[in-house]
Amino acid sequence: MNSGKAAPEGLELAVELLRSSYLPVVSTGAGMSRESGVRTFRGEEGYWREHRAEDLASLEGIRKDPVLVWEWYRERLGACEELIPHKGYEALYRLQEHSGRLPVVTQNVDGLHQKAGIRDVIELHGSLRTASCLAGCGAPPVRMEQGLFENMPPRCVCGSILRPDVVLFGEDLPEQALKRALRLAGRCDLMIVVGTSMVVYPAAALPMIALRSGARVIEINTVETPLSSLEGTLFLRGTAGSVLPELAKAVIRSC
Ligand code: APR
Repeated sequence: MNSGKAAPEGLELAVELLRSSYLPVVSTGAGMSRESGVRTFRGEEGYWREHRAEDLASLEGIRKDPVLVWEWYRERLGACEELIPHKGYEALYRLQEHSGRLPVVTQNVDGLHQKAGIRDVIELHGSLRTASCLAGCGAPPVRMEQGLFENMPPRCVCGSILRPDVVLFGEDLPEQALKRALRLAGRCDLMIVVGTSMVVYPAAALPMIALRSGARVIEINTVETPLSSLEGTLFLRGTAGSVLPELAKAVIRSC
């Protein structure tokens, strides 16, 4: 056990569940990125200046004050470029290598899973990698990099404002990603849910679908959520960066 910390209660059962699973799936939220320095959306740090994330990450918000919204994304993108995936990502990578198949559904747009070498990442809420024309003129997406922000707000070749290729509040999720995530939720026999407050749908429905289909759920979070006390959920209290490495080490060692 690293750093002399006691393993979270329930770790042994979690190891058993993961070792005996034929189709485990991982689902991550903003809490997965927290120990790499990315703020979560809710709770006391869920504000940026005096704005809620929900108001900034919306079509209405970007139309009303494009400069403010793009300043928020510039700050988030800037943070993302320097981000280093923490030990929890490395643990997911090792579990994926070990099991050969471990799809990862994420609500996060920071690209940290891919940066850690994790494959088969299903981005439910898009990503900060590109931006597209808000007016939908058909111009190809442009890479999101600091140069884009020389003129604020960044504009498309057609002159319209650009919007980041993340799912904004009020928008539908990317169809293929959602279809695959729903299919995995219905077919998996184990879902490991890391760092989500379980308040934004349809992402929050995935573990519920898994439970209803007879799967077990392992939830890793620093606080309890609406998922924690449901029949079939094993709640492991702790951070992604501390619990996932313990889980990976115990699973891989026991094989
Ligand atoms: N390890 C594990 N969990 C953590 C950690 C950590 N180090 N730090 C915080 N958490 C937990 C919090 O307790 C909370 O339950 O992560 C969760 C983060 O919740 P939110 O900020 O609501 O993030 P998320 O659930 O991913 O939000 C869903 O809302 O704003 C939209 O599109 C955005 O994808 C986002 C969606």
